[in-house]
Amino acid sequence: MKVAVIGAGYWGPNLIRNFLMLDEVEAVVACDLDEGRLAKMRKLFHGIETSTNYDEVIARPDMDIVVIATPVSTHHEIAKKALVGGKHCFIEKPMTASVAEAEELLAIAKTKSLTLFVDHTFIYTGAVRKMKEIITSGRLGDIYYFDSVRINLGLFQHDVNVIWDLAPHDLSIMDYLLEQKAISVSAIGTCHVGNGLEDIAYLTLEFENNLIAHFHVNWLAPTKIRKTLIGGTKSMIVYDDTEASEKVKIYDKGIDVTSREDVYDTLVQYRTGDMLSPKLDQEEALAVGTRHFINCILTGTKPLTGGEAGLNVVRILEASAISIKNRGQLVELQ
Ligand SMILES: NC(=O)c1ccc[n+]([C@@H]2O[C@H](COP(=O)([O-])OP(=O)(O)OC[C@H]3O[C@@H](n4cnc5c(N)ncnc54)[C@H](O)[C@@H]3O)[C@@H](O)[C@H]2O)c1
Repeated sequence: MKVAVIGAGYWGPNLIRNFLMLDEVEAVVACDLDEGRLAKMRKLFHGIETSTNYDEVIARPDMDIVVIATPVSTHHEIAKKALVGGKHCFIEKPMTASVAEAEELLAIAKTKSLTLFVDHTFIYTGAVRKMKEIITSGRLGDIYYFDSVRINLGLFQHDVNVIWDLAPHDLSIMDYLLEQKAISVSAIGTCHVGNGLEDIAYLTLEFENNLIAHFHVNWLAPTKIRKTLIGGTKSMIVYDDTEASEKVKIYDKGIDVTSREDVYDTLVQYRTGDMLSPKLDQEEALAVGTRHFINCILTGTKPLTGGEAGLNVVRILEASAISIKNRGQLVELQ
């Protein structure tokens, strides 16, 4: 297969490297509007073909796959051209800048029986796959909450705020692990650099069954924190992506609640048991994800992170934008 990677900025080279490693991939063509970035790609990847005209590359009959790693505002236009032209599509997160755009891409891919993959990279990490295994086994019991912090200094994006840039990672992890649809979103955020794009934000999702999720994203933090807590009735997980080896810790801790009719107070008893840090698969997430994408094309199966998963995330992002504008107003999702 031949692959066109559009966008060779910060993330694009990681995609080029991983696609080039796959046996099924015969060649990768790197496209960018910036000739300087293409010169860098020729230096990094010996013999790679480059182009400043992605329209021409997409239209080539020998091109099978289009990979989109450009700014979010351009995803829909490029992906639509690729799908209409009959190419399988791999789109960076977040899938599009609006729900309407995501729905249109999904519909075209479906009509043309093409594989549409959204790069929710974290789903392909050993840590998230292990957490999925643990939650599916019932070890956590019923889930009380999902709470994540993803903060660091920069990288400021020019076309989206911090929620659209960082929260797709955590929203996609939550969606994959919990498989529950949120019923409402509320978000607050502020901008400190004068371009109108929030650089600090707090996002809360409510679900049925008392489940609550909270996300803290920030481009103005002095240190890098990537931490998620998932609390259940039986045990709880702390996932720290900055840890070198013990990224996932399962705590046999929780509360046992008893209400007796003969006493007025509800009795809460604390349970503290062992902590376990399971062994994780260390393979690079993008290697797992790109391989899965190619397998889906070859077998005609649906990707784990297909257009629907991308749309789920964009739906929450769009609602968060409405909520932020209205200073945290609750926005219903269904
Ligand atoms: N999956 C992940 O973990 C991850 C990490 C970082 C970024 N991303 C995503 O990757 C995408 C790109 O982010 P980035 O940080 O690499 O941005 P970037 O600004 O560093 O790179 C974007 C590149 O696209 C090029 N470009 C812009 N418009 C173009 C067009 N119409 N045609 C061809 N080239 C064009 C720019 O010249 C630039 O080189 C975003 O969607 C971002 O959310 C994903």
